Amino acid sequence: MKKKIGFFVGSLRKGSYSKTVATALASLFPEDYEPIFIHLDNLEMYNQDLDDEGTPPAAWTKFRAEVKELSGLVFVTPEYNRSVPGVLKNALDVGSRPYGQNVWDGKPGLVVSVSPGALSAFGANHHLRQSLVFLNVPTLQQPEAYIGNVVSLINEDGTITENTMSFFKTIVDSYLVLLEKNR
Ligand code: FNR
Repeated sequence: MKKKIGFFVGSLRKGSYSKTVATALASLFPEDYEPIFIHLDNLEMYNQDLDDEGTPPAAWTKFRAEVKELSGLVFVTPEYNRSVPGVLKNALDVGSRPYGQNVWDGKPGLVVSVSPGALSAFGANHHLRQSLVFLNVPTLQQPEAYIGNVVSLINEDGTITENTMSFFKTIVDSYLVLLEKNR
């Protein structure tokens, strides 16, 4: 059976550069992996009362079940105000509860930050890593993936430039090693 790799994109924008990068990364996984884009847009904001009262929204339950099935986690995110966009942080929070039922636990992660700017969303990348430490997600350390000036890396037809694809392949290959180590 193929191993499922969840892709979590921190932007809901139709023309999202992060989504373009995530799609390119997904195309580089070998046949025995199945990239799955997990939707974050219908997750209600986390409210612990709903778990405590035994009435979690259906979208939370579905999301938690989807994440449990995954062998690996790929996070591709822009930076909002030097941090992680709320939609992605909310998804982390929803998956982390109820207490003791953290669905992220132990699944190897890859963090890729994307920006049209030169600072490459460094702040979002590292704030995300901070949460992943607490969620017990072993995260690829090297190579780090800061994708800055992203507009210049996308061809007119929406594909990624050749040099960048070869860097993406290095990232994916290193992540595959981490995945195998953590099986
Ligand atoms: C941004 N943007 C941005 N960029 C950045 O490099 N650092 C930042 O702190 C911010 N802050 C920020 C806040 C908010 C609310 C928005 C909407 C945007 C710009 C951002 O990088 C740009 O809009 C990207 O195109 C967003 O990523 P997607 O949607 O293309 O994936």
